[in-house]
Amino acid sequence: MLSFAGGGAVGQEIGNGRAASILLADAGVKVIVADKEEILAKNTVKMIQDRGGEAISIGGDLTKSDQCKKVVDFTISRWGRLDILDNNIGVASKLSVVDETEENWNQVMDINLKPMFLMSKYAIPEMIKSGNAGSIVNISSISATRPKGLTTYSASKGAVISLSQAMAVDHGANGIRVNCILPGPVYTPMVYSTGMTKHHRFQRQDASLIQIEGNGWDIGKAVVYLSSNWARYITGHLLVVDGGCSLSAKPRG
Ligand SMILES: NC(=O)c1ccc[n+]([C@@H]2O[C@H](COP(=O)([O-])OP(=O)(O)OC[C@H]3O[C@@H](n4cnc5c(N)ncnc54)[C@H](O)[C@@H]3O)[C@@H](O)[C@H]2O)c1
Repeated sequence: MLSFAGGGAVGQEIGNGRAASILLADAGVKVIVADKEEILAKNTVKMIQDRGGEAISIGGDLTKSDQCKKVVDFTISRWGRLDILDNNIGVASKLSVVDETEENWNQVMDINLKPMFLMSKYAIPEMIKSGNAGSIVNISSISATRPKGLTTYSASKGAVISLSQAMAVDHGANGIRVNCILPGPVYTPMVYSTGMTKHHRFQRQDASLIQIEGNGWDIGKAVVYLSSNWARYITGHLLVVDGGCSLSAKPRG
């Protein structure tokens, strides 16, 4: 009963999207895992099925309107309804506005923001049809509120916060809750696949007030909570999941 955008992750690794897909399936949710790289979505589905859960994969570039509509239509055709949407897709960027290229700015904005708009555009009418209820979780970042050198990324993730709160206002009357998670520097393929030294990893752990290195499971658990009835009175909320990193002045690596 879930349509999941960006639910893949490299190899057998655990990214935020994959962790949320697995944990929702553990909780009995029927999952659709959508990812640009269908093989990554298939890996997530296999992991879910190995634990006894139900899931189906679908490939698609979710910066494209027709592909998002295809994912939503596929969800309805396979599971009959849509109740939960986790908008997880995101790519990083490193440069200041002076060094950033216009091409990369456009690409980061397109990937980090547009799929949330398009997936929600097609999912919300189906949530209304499925019973005037639903949960949308959009994945932002603490870089939105505590930027540290990821300028284009930070700007895109700030827009995710505004989008989430505006959607919560627009669709509260439809019984749809829209919340936003701001992960800290969690250890996922997105960050370590581009190279991470032991020192960087230590810095990320040390930046946490409780000296914990977060991982994809921490974000997945927050998605499950916000999507569950335990969070029925929570909408338009920004849930920071960062071990206190955004309150620390230390470098995050
Ligand atoms: N890892 C961190 O430290 C961290 C911190 C803050 C926020 N986040 C956010 O968490 C989210 C997920 O991170 P993750 O670690 O799971 O990343 P990930 O790279 O493991 O997973 C993201 C998935 O999105 C898919 N994807 C990318 N572009 C796509 C497109 N156009 N259409 C469809 N699928 C596409 C990728 O193939 C990948 O499988 C991102 O929004 C990221 O910005 C991560």
